[in-house]
Amino acid sequence: MDRELELELLDELISLDQEKLAYLDEDIALSPVEHYCDPDHFAQEHDRVFRSYPQIAAHCSELPEPGSFLRRDLAGLPAFLTRDRDGQVHAFLNVCRHRGARLVEDEKGCKHSFSCPYHAWTWSNTGDLRGVPHQKQGFPDLDKSKYGLIRLPCSEISGWIWVVPNPKSSFDIAAFVAPAAADFAWLDGGNLRMGPSNQITCAANWKILLEGGIEAYHFRVAHKDTIGPFFPDNLSSYRMMGHHMRSVLPRVTIGDLHSRPRDSWNIRDEANVLYTFFPTSQFLVQQDHLIWIRTEPLAADQTRLTLTTMVPADAPTDLDAHWQKNHQITMHTLSEDFDIGEAIQSGLASGANDALTFGRYEGALTQFANMMAQAVSDPAA
Ligand code: FES
Ligand SMILES: [Fe+2]
Repeated sequence: MDRELELELLDELISLDQEKLAYLDEDIALSPVEHYCDPDHFAQEHDRVFRSYPQIAAHCSELPEPGSFLRRDLAGLPAFLTRDRDGQVHAFLNVCRHRGARLVEDEKGCKHSFSCPYHAWTWSNTGDLRGVPHQKQGFPDLDKSKYGLIRLPCSEISGWIWVVPNPKSSFDIAAFVAPAAADFAWLDGGNLRMGPSNQITCAANWKILLEGGIEAYHFRVAHKDTIGPFFPDNLSSYRMMGHHMRSVLPRVTIGDLHSRPRDSWNIRDEANVLYTFFPTSQFLVQQDHLIWIRTEPLAADQTRLTLTTMVPADAPTDLDAHWQKNHQITMHTLSEDFDIGEAIQSGLASGANDALTFGRYEGALTQFANMMAQAVSDPAA
């Protein structure tokens, strides 16, 4: 984001805070309960959204040098990523083209070619078939060019590696990311490295967990014993950036910001900035680090989350204990949200509600639900 926008976002929240007003949408909205618990609805989301839209699959530091590779399941597809001699990143299905064995077993490493553990067909890290043992007799007319690894659309943008988990897709990843390009530049992802990381599985629909992050209405209640007192009651704003969203969740320090020199204002000091990159990637940006939340919807009522604290690449290692402490605080706070999410999920099928109700404070939830509804009904849009 540029400086002008940073100040605009702060000015908007300062004046709402001073007037004790909330950031309001026009209307309340209803979100049908079956969108959170119906397996058929989940199957539609899976096919039309998770398997159709790009997701942030990796950070550039996970493929640090030519020859680096990384295994990663993407929306249930076995895949792996490579970095070739020229520094280009590729994504492939992790499936042998001979008789379908899993080609890459190691989670990560450095290799310029990959040999199948079954019969040793071998591919370069650019996906070209290089070797077939006993080819002359066994496969006399084999056209190796037709047996390249199956490629997934992939782009490295501002330090983040985006992949569409669909080999038939022609999705324009750059155009999809473009509305958030200035924010990616601001976040400077290429100069981050991975800090502490946790993976958890939650017995709740992925949208319940996501929705809990993009409103501040619950802060003073659900987080009263942790972060609640550091945030003004029920104050946040959001802006859409194409499919993506930037939410700003100010801290109580915004209350006297107007009395400090405007030149010194820094949104990262005064607010949590939460990015939701449609559909399942989020960055929670804090003062000196950000938390990358990778959401993997496993079933209507089950979600795996990987939360990684990303820190400045040049931060000295004696700060590691500081990142670790921050990471634990984040995990503890988010566990309050996840516990509530699991409780919501357990009551969804009770018949108490036909729909969840989003108030005018919760417009970001409505926007996200609308984006999902559009993607599910018209995957090409
Ligand atoms: S299945 Fe991979 S070489 Fe045969
Ligand atoms: Fe929360």
